[in-house]
Amino acid sequence: MGDMAQKIAKVDLGELIRVLNEAFSEEWLAYYQYWIGARIAQGQMRKGVVEEFKEHAHDEREQAEMLADRIIELGGTPVINPDDWSKIAKCKYDAPIKPDTKTLVEQVLQSERCAVGRYQGICDMCFGKDYKTFHIAEKILRKEIEHEQEMEDFLKDMTVAKAYYDTPSA
Ligand SMILES: [Fe+2]
Ligand SMILES: [Fe+2]
Repeated sequence: MGDMAQKIAKVDLGELIRVLNEAFSEEWLAYYQYWIGARIAQGQMRKGVVEEFKEHAHDEREQAEMLADRIIELGGTPVINPDDWSKIAKCKYDAPIKPDTKTLVEQVLQSERCAVGRYQGICDMCFGKDYKTFHIAEKILRKEIEHEQEMEDFLKDMTVAKAYYDTPSA
């Protein structure tokens, strides 16, 4: 990080790097949750769920990259040992033991809700103090809000579809 860039940063850089590394770890876990979910999914609306999971996996990995770049720019080191991801992450990885689409979607929805809180927190931390990190966190927050909505929509559609098929025909 350049001299001027350091001078203008009004946040505790050590604390910011620590929080960004938590978020970075969470992104890799979220990436894998979607990546593996897209491969093992079975049941209702499978095609749509798989397609969306693949797209989200791509987004989460892209976010991990954005965070890694910013951590390095701030003078930190992104978590280098994947063993540490689960230890550091506050948004936890929920192993998809049951591969039915509804359970998979419910699991990723919890991660997305956690992520929304995570980036809201980073935005609050950086607002007016570190505009560059703020803009990265805000960009990710927008995506996470979209992700949450898309997963909620799946659950609604699944409930409607189930009610339709459960209704005995006259
Ligand atoms: Fe994410
Ligand atoms: Fe997400």
